[in-house]
Amino acid sequence: MAEEGCCRFCRVLGTTSSPKRYARADVEDAMADPGDDAPDDETPVWGTDISRRTVLVAGTAGSTSMAFLDPADGRPRRNVSRTPVELTVNGRRQHLEIDPRTTLLDALREHLNLTGSKKGCDHGQCGACTVHVGGRRVLSCLTLAAAVREPVTTIEGLSPDGALHPMQQAFIDQDAFQCGYCTPGQIMSAVACVREGHTGSDAEIREFMSGNLCRCAAYPHIVAAIKQAKTAMERG
Ligand code: FES
Ligand code: FES
Repeated sequence: MAEEGCCRFCRVLGTTSSPKRYARADVEDAMADPGDDAPDDETPVWGTDISRRTVLVAGTAGSTSMAFLDPADGRPRRNVSRTPVELTVNGRRQHLEIDPRTTLLDALREHLNLTGSKKGCDHGQCGACTVHVGGRRVLSCLTLAAAVREPVTTIEGLSPDGALHPMQQAFIDQDAFQCGYCTPGQIMSAVACVREGHTGSDAEIREFMSGNLCRCAAYPHIVAAIKQAKTAMERG
């Protein structure tokens, strides 16, 4: 057997001690009577330079997340204890008792009945769920509601006085949607894009709107809408 090890794991871990070199009886003996050779927490895990402590910490974290799974079928538990969460959404203080795993998107849609923010991918890839938190655009599907400390603005609260926000009007004027599913997220992202000052050119707008996908490919119209709204927003 080559000195660098018997398998790719030996080479990756930089050890010549292969699991295959230990007889099963040796392992069983050690487990039955660890004796004076019992490892302490800083003892490297066999074949690596990772300490037992590191493995134990990782295992504890894993079992904590396992606590959220039903051992019967491995699916998420339905009866995890609820957590009180306070959110300020569109200027209103909201008190919720929710599963601590609840995303901001689900809190908005399922608990506060604010269904303007859309669930497209639920994986942070499409931008349909974009809302503002503390004035910054965030993907609400990747944000835990319990972790939100700053005010949330959704498409429903973009223009609190009932009139359309200049960006909403521009999307209508420029025909910047077809099915409309991506549109709330596009508009929230577009407003932030203007406020951030990323509208110097069509290319810059496209770059800073690239996190918002449109299956209907209304992109040229979306860029035109942003340019129109930018002028109106700057006029105030
Ligand atoms: S639903 Fe959040 S990014 Fe797609
Ligand atoms: S308008 Fe249909 S996905 Fe954008």
